[in-house]
Amino acid sequence: MMKKKIIVTGGTGYIGSHTTVELIEDGFEVVIIDNLYNSEAEVADRIFQITGIRPLLAVFDLCDREKLQSFLQSQGNIDGIIHFAAYKAVGESVNKPLEYYRNNLLSLINLLEAMKTCGIPNLVFSSSCTVYGQPAKLPVAEDAPVQPAMSPYGNTKQIGEEIIRDTAAATEKIKAIALRYFNPIGAHPSALIGELPRGVPENLVPYITQTAYGLRKELKVFGNDYNTPDGSCIRDYLHVVDLAKAHVTAVKRLVENKNKSDYEVFNLGTGMGVSVLEAIKSFERVTGINLNYQITGRRAGDIEKIWADPSLANRELGWRTVSTLDESMKTAWEWEKYIRKDKK
Ligand code: UFG
Repeated sequence: MMKKKIIVTGGTGYIGSHTTVELIEDGFEVVIIDNLYNSEAEVADRIFQITGIRPLLAVFDLCDREKLQSFLQSQGNIDGIIHFAAYKAVGESVNKPLEYYRNNLLSLINLLEAMKTCGIPNLVFSSSCTVYGQPAKLPVAEDAPVQPAMSPYGNTKQIGEEIIRDTAAATEKIKAIALRYFNPIGAHPSALIGELPRGVPENLVPYITQTAYGLRKELKVFGNDYNTPDGSCIRDYLHVVDLAKAHVTAVKRLVENKNKSDYEVFNLGTGMGVSVLEAIKSFERVTGINLNYQITGRRAGDIEKIWADPSLANRELGWRTVSTLDESMKTAWEWEKYIRKDKK
């Protein structure tokens, strides 16, 4: 039987590369489109090392509408697209709103137009729990109201969801699933792929692993005066391989026509809230390293506490997280050590 063919945009990035591995291991043919803005072509070699199959990597920018159309046309029958490619630095987006709106929205519009033109029916979109802002009720479920975005980045996810919803409603052939991620962490157990931030990391776990490795002097814990048990912020950290597997399930749901409406939304999280200080303790426990950290002031725009109600994804996708926080921290550390040795 012919393999189903999936286009993965941003497939050399952090979540995209893990998803590509899971798709290949599930028997899909994967074609990656990536402009390598925040990743390296070598990731395709690492995917080959893990799976024994090298995905085709097409290096171009989704903002180039003609190129995108002609490339997709040249690919023959495509069963679905998983769209990861986007700018994602919350802080940077506040200073460069137009870059964020142009890049994240234009690429999405071009993709949807190309799907129409080429008759590609299925889209899975990378969204974020950021759309909920600070929810009134926790854990937060998909029917919680979307709140005004805290950053241009967050706004591109909200607007992106709306563009997809409207397009799915208006276009008979197009169906879509938006996946609202909580906080993905960790790396592949092979330690061959993982998160590689440019410059100083914004996110907690890469900051922890870089500090432990000696690349950063100390981790700053942004605030211990929140209304939480230990005063630090609470998030729902899920292992990136679990997250990647949810994409395989979601794309299959569309390909097999098991979706219940043209546009569906699912939360992807563990359902468990973990504080910054608990996350640090987990890292210290699994690595035996005493992390150098200091409590400092709050970071502007941080949500106090959020964790997922993942029961819709549990029920409808038959998906749930299996890795623990400790396992996630362990793989994040193995990856940090691997990549630093590799880069020397
Ligand atoms: N934190 C620190 N020190 C650091 C980095 C982070 O204490 O050096 C804390 C933050 O204050 C927060 C927690 O660790 O309490 C997690 O912070 P991250 O930056 O890792 O994650 P966020 O939850 O702030 O942001 C993530 C994604 C965004 C997404 C958002 C949705 O990075 O893309 O979740 O809520 F929009």
